[in-house]
Formats: sequence, structure tokens, C-alpha cells
Amino acid sequence: MRKKIVAGNWKMNLNLQDGIALAKDLNTALTADKPNCDVVICTPFIHLASVANEIDSNIIGLGAENCADKSSGAYTGEVSAEMVKSTGAQYVILGHSERRAYYNETPEILKEKINLALANGLKVIFCIGEVLEERESGKQSEVVKSQLEGSLFDLSVEEFKNIILAYEPVWAIGTGKTASAEQAEEMHAFIRSAIAEKFGNEAAENVSILYGGSCKPSNAKEIFAKANVDGGLIGGAALKVADFKGIIDAWK
Ligand code: PGA
Repeated sequence: MRKKIVAGNWKMNLNLQDGIALAKDLNTALTADKPNCDVVICTPFIHLASVANEIDSNIIGLGAENCADKSSGAYTGEVSAEMVKSTGAQYVILGHSERRAYYNETPEILKEKINLALANGLKVIFCIGEVLEERESGKQSEVVKSQLEGSLFDLSVEEFKNIILAYEPVWAIGTGKTASAEQAEEMHAFIRSAIAEKFGNEAAENVSILYGGSCKPSNAKEIFAKANVDGGLIGGAALKVADFKGIIDAWK
């Protein structure tokens, strides 16, 4: 059985004190009422080490939102996969549409990041998804297939076991416009079939594919009920314990 996962992506929100407080409150809430799925919070780099001290790693996993495409050296301002791992984090989000759009992260750059993350023992939450124009011209399958091919298809089946996929239609991120459960399921099924073609049926059956884009307590249950949806990658609603827990509870 593949893992059910709800992962939060804090993005560039919350200062250190507010981030620690949120992590602490979430840990308290989930210790009192244990989740039925894996829960991960992905925080800004500077929060990681402090947040690691506040959470029970048996209940909440910890991840970064990015890492460098180089392993070490003279790259001022960058944070390596090894550094991320050394904070106690176990995950890293790579390929988020905001990184692709605003920081020019290409499939080739993402491939380097993925390789370094895996080499340092991190699990990768790899994001894919089409923009509105691509959806309107019916190109969504083509787009996600080429995102998969461009960054993941040189991995071995063994390496691929540490990949979690997140389908995030860009038009649904932070817009309040969620994909319908049917639209999500159609894309997730397509993604799983592309993985089966490349890595085999077992890899496809075992990979968790999360939905992301304006996921909220009010729509999570319907989306997560679909056969190929294994959870969510949550932005805005991960910044409030009640909302994030509401989404986690969709698995109950
Ligand atoms: P959102 O963001 O839930 O705020 O739409 C999701 C994401 O970008 O991961």
C-alpha cells in the first residue's frame, strides 16, 4: 500500500518565532489526535533546525522548500542538500512552479538538485503541473509528461522509490480555484501510467501522488477520495493549525 501524505509548504511566510510557534501547536494537536497519514511540514531554510527541535519526528516529517544544484563551494547564498539533511530534515520540495517561474529553474537544473537530494538521503517531493494557457489548449498531459521526463527519467527504479510526486495545476495555486476531483483524478491516473511505462507497474503502484492547489478542509475529502490521489501539498492552508489539521483529518 502506498503512503497517504499531507505535506505543508510554508513558502516565504512566518518569521522564525511564528514558525516555531506553528510547529509547536501542530505537534501538540497531532500528538493529542494522531493522524491517519504521514504529515510533513516544509519550511524556509532558516526555520529547519529550530523546528526540528519542536516536533516529534514519529508524527511530523520535516522538509525544505528547495536546495542548491551544486554540492558545496563558492555559491554565495545557496543551501546544499547536505546542509538541509544536517538540520534533521528528511524531505525537500523540488520543482515547485514558483521556483520554475520566478527563479528560472529548468528541468536540467532540477535534475541536478534531485540527484544531490537523493545522494544525501532526502526524499524529494517533486512538483509538476501545467499553466492555465496549457490547460486551455488541452496540453496538460504533454506538459507533465515532459516535466517528468526532463528531470526524473534518468533515475534508477531504486532511486525513484524516494520520489513523491505532487500534481499542482499552476492555475489552482493560491488562486482559490481548485481543480475538480475529476480533473485531479484524470491527471493523477495519467501520471501514474507514465511512471508505469518508465519504471514499471510496481514503482507506479507505490509512488504517492499528491494534489496541490487551493486545497482546503472543505474540499480535501472529495479530492483525496479519488483512487489515484494519495494526499495533498498544501500552501495557504498549512499556515493555520486548524486548517491544516482539517485537511489531515480528511483521511479519517
Ligand atoms: P496553495 O499552494 O495551497 O496555497 O494553493 C499550494 C502549493 O503551492 O504548494
